[in-house]
Amino acid sequence: MNDLTMPQEAGFDRSRRPFDLAALIKDREPERYQLHTLYMNEMMVRALRTIGFDVAFQRGSGQYLFDKGGTRYLDLLSGWGVFGVGRNHPAVRQALETVLTADLPNLVQMDVTALSGLLAERLLQFVPFLDKVFFANSGTEAVEAAMKFARGATGRANIVYCSHAFHGLTYGALSLNGDATFRDGFGGFVPGCVEVPFNDLAALEQALSKRDVAAFIVEPIQGKGVNMPADGYLAAVRALCTKYGTLLVADEIQTGVGRTGRFLAIEHWNVEPDMVLLAKALSGGHVPISAVLMRRKIFESVFNRMDRMVVHGSTFAKNDLAMAAGLATLEVIESERLIQNAARRGEQLLAFFKPFAERYELVKNVRGKGLMIGIEFGQPRSFKLKAAWTLLESVRAGLFCQLIVIPLFKDHKVLVQVAANAGHTIKLLPTLNITDADCTWIEGAFDSVVADAHRVPGAVWSLGKTLAENVRKGSR
Ligand SMILES: Cc1ncc(COP(=O)(O)O)c(C=O)c1O
Repeated sequence: MNDLTMPQEAGFDRSRRPFDLAALIKDREPERYQLHTLYMNEMMVRALRTIGFDVAFQRGSGQYLFDKGGTRYLDLLSGWGVFGVGRNHPAVRQALETVLTADLPNLVQMDVTALSGLLAERLLQFVPFLDKVFFANSGTEAVEAAMKFARGATGRANIVYCSHAFHGLTYGALSLNGDATFRDGFGGFVPGCVEVPFNDLAALEQALSKRDVAAFIVEPIQGKGVNMPADGYLAAVRALCTKYGTLLVADEIQTGVGRTGRFLAIEHWNVEPDMVLLAKALSGGHVPISAVLMRRKIFESVFNRMDRMVVHGSTFAKNDLAMAAGLATLEVIESERLIQNAARRGEQLLAFFKPFAERYELVKNVRGKGLMIGIEFGQPRSFKLKAAWTLLESVRAGLFCQLIVIPLFKDHKVLVQVAANAGHTIKLLPTLNITDADCTWIEGAFDSVVADAHRVPGAVWSLGKTLAENVRKGSR
């Protein structure tokens, strides 16, 4: 390479031995749990060991995970929903590699990029009733932005949210969190945040009627519990928000980007919110991202003068890797017809699971849309089962579900977890590309484990005894 083509000006000495990340990972991989115990969240490591999830996953491909022995697992967590298109999708990787090899300037800040403009354009094609996009780096940041946009646009201070809502864990979002376990010990919160019960229109109207509420934020289907909106709830919410001049914000961070069989879950109810929040699956899982889609008027009321052009933002937002991954992800969603697949597989799984509520006394309810499905367990009626349930639940609320989750993992290689802390709903949140064979895998695994749980004494309840002892020890 001569002086003209070699970018000496970059100041990189390319003759130096490159940093060997692969060797580092290989050498230190066996220490992963030790490193976390020493330097990070030891409680996480203890929990993984208690439930036997400490298999040290090595590889991910599509809907599958592989442990160090090469055993394949079907992943029904999809990284809390970020791997809509599946892990390590080649199109997303290709887009990221393209960005890296192009030596793009990235984050010049006093410039704008085509990539972010293109992703905004593409997103708005999926949500044609909105006009503008604000990008951020995580779900909770999108919520923070929505709170500021809503206050800025309306001049009102209050924000209404629902009980059991989950919008993230930074202070604004935490102030809209409807679950005490996340809030306890962290007060005081952002003022003006008012909770109403989910699905309660009278309470919402009362909260909005003073016309001092900037926004009502709602997950069309609540992630913590897979709680479904009652028929007509979201349409009536829309009408109430319009009546009282409150902005309707749909938090589609979990439900969006095809998860429920539509691009947005709220489309199932034909409702057009004023703001839509997306994150998680939007960048295919590789790079953090979030987006706030909104009406022009809201956007322009905040970015209303040149000297306010950076009045809200975040340094890494709109970075090239996130934008490119977002574009690739949306392309995959469309070309692989993943939204249609989510709808079809979701119907198939729901049709299989719905009869569980009649067939098995431990199953109380099955609900969901597309590939967001909740199976709710509850206290059984028969004497022996009820006694076993009560004993276990007295050790810790929600412990019963681990008796389902553990054998699913250990015996059937299905990775799944509960929908909410201390709750009794197991949530299925697979990648959107699951196949007929995967559905058969899920169905066989659940059928076998749930049937076993109805045998007392039996393997499931002996596991319950051990688990209860471990939990008791762990709490000391
Ligand atoms: C509905 C909803 N909103 C917001 C968030 C917060 O997103 P993040 O974890 O990226 O901050 C989540 C995360 O689970 C979510 O499910």
